Amino acid sequence: MILTTGSAGFIGSNFVLDWFAQSDEPVINLDKLTYAGNLENLASLKDNPNHIFVQGDIGDKALVAKLLALHRPRAIVNFAAESHVDRSIHGPEDFIQTNVVGTFHLLEVVRAYWSGLSDAEMTNFRFLHVSTDEVYGSLAKSEPAFTENHRYEPNSPYSASKAASDHLVRAYHHTYGLPVLTTNCSNNYGPYHFPEKLIPLMIVNALAGRSLPVYGDGQQIRDWLYVKDHCSAIRCALEKGKPGEVYNIGGWNEKANLDIVHTVCRLLDELQPRSDGKPYREQIAFVADRPGHDRRYAIDARKIERELGWKPSETFETGIRKTVQWYLDNQTWVNNVLSGSYRQWIEKNYAERA
Ligand code: NAD
Ligand code: TYD
Repeated sequence: MILTTGSAGFIGSNFVLDWFAQSDEPVINLDKLTYAGNLENLASLKDNPNHIFVQGDIGDKALVAKLLALHRPRAIVNFAAESHVDRSIHGPEDFIQTNVVGTFHLLEVVRAYWSGLSDAEMTNFRFLHVSTDEVYGSLAKSEPAFTENHRYEPNSPYSASKAASDHLVRAYHHTYGLPVLTTNCSNNYGPYHFPEKLIPLMIVNALAGRSLPVYGDGQQIRDWLYVKDHCSAIRCALEKGKPGEVYNIGGWNEKANLDIVHTVCRLLDELQPRSDGKPYREQIAFVADRPGHDRRYAIDARKIERELGWKPSETFETGIRKTVQWYLDNQTWVNNVLSGSYRQWIEKNYAERA
């Protein structure tokens, strides 16, 4: 049995769905169900007795200790986090609480549990911490992609809080010997992506006839990975990764934001043309930039390929087509997500950029 945290969110729910597509090993799924957590993502597991959902906070030491004692997992995969840069700019507090303090409390409880295991169980145990390329800061156009040795230079409250959690995870290995793995992944996209992030926001806004807000000049570069490739990399690191090691995960798909928006528009023109026959790109609106906006991220994913044999299976072209089609096929999911609290966030983030 494994325990995952934050698996009612975007990447975690994809991970659990993929897990059960190839394994019947039970998963305890601990999630606080913040605005980003959505049990609808896991609806297909409703009758699966091997999926045990528990609503709770990674920082709740008594709850986590009880779950560990009861279920005795062989591994933890920590997805739980506050994950949206723009929200971290408006209100960093939750990011510090969950990403830093929450991860610290989780590590403390896991350390106590792990030290009570038998020698063989201790050796085989893994704590896999899911992190981001944003901890490395911003690259100039000519600089090489981030390797695992790139120095940490986080620039937003989100990336600073993730950097802090990475350091704690590292320290628990170095000081206490906890068998940890850290994965630093580039931007994900795919099914169940919450429409506050670039790609799903553009799809949802385009279809609703709203404007497509591009921050600044739209020339910021992100390195995109289809979410199911991220999930396969995490499974690979969990099974074959060496404790104490860091693995960068990426899809070798650097794209400027404006190119991403044009691609989404082109796919929608093909798959669901506007009723007036005009192209969706006419809805693009350049808006005020994000403060402290990182210019470029790029992941050098050669270590995980060389040492663990992992490679992505989707290209950007195949992955983005599947993604746009998924949103077209899952309008009910989209409509249920666009609740009152979602509308308040959109109002807050975009009103001042107009
Ligand atoms: P998300 O915001 O979609 O989901 C986060 C989940 O964590 C939600 O289900 C939420 O309810 C849960 N959660 C939040 N606080 C919690 C707490 N205190 N206790 C328990 N659960 C809590 O995020 P995501 O995009 O799925 O990202 C998952 C992880 O992957 C994060 O750690 C993020 O930093 C990392 N990551 C994300 C990306 C990306 O492109 N989305 C890329 C690299 C790394
Ligand atoms: P986002 O999806 O928030 O991910 P991250 O900030 O973690 O990379 O944003 C991806 C890029 O898209 C980032 O450079 C900001 C930009 N962006 C826009 O231009 N407009 C938007 O409305 C949003 C949400 C993001």
